[in-house]
Amino acid sequence: MLGAMTDRDGRLAIGELAARSGVAPSALRYYEELGLIHSERTAGNQRRYPRTALRRVAFVRAAQQVGLSLEEVRAALDRLPVDRAPSATEWNAVARTWQRRIEDRIAELERLKERLTGCIGCGCLSLRKCGLYNPHDAAGKHGPGARYLMEEDDPEPAGTR
Ligand code: FES
Repeated sequence: MLGAMTDRDGRLAIGELAARSGVAPSALRYYEELGLIHSERTAGNQRRYPRTALRRVAFVRAAQQVGLSLEEVRAALDRLPVDRAPSATEWNAVARTWQRRIEDRIAELERLKERLTGCIGCGCLSLRKCGLYNPHDAAGKHGPGARYLMEEDDPEPAGTR
């Protein structure tokens, strides 16, 4: 039986896609703006999403959890057809594109774990060497996030901070 917000072609209204995916309508509109999902319009100018949008939204959410940017997600999803449901082979090809990214993220978290464990045992909060203590955000120029914890080597030579 069709849901109240599903049309006879099985396409979903934005409210139903939001309810089923757990993603707010405003976020779904943003995803659409970015080209991550696609809709058609009814005669009354309402969005209708193909059922494959559910899988695309799930992919976006999972990809963000492992640290992929929306730009990276779009590059991956651009490999899929928009006029039909992607095959399992096509989805597998997309999944392979982010395996390397996940491996890098795991390595990054391993380094973070080691340094954080060291700091918890140490407690010195040294301006020169501590990855936790960085009051003037000298690490900011190296990029977002806890740079001293994330980077493999100290980003600045001793004495420059
Ligand atoms: S608390 Fe000593 S190095 Fe971080």
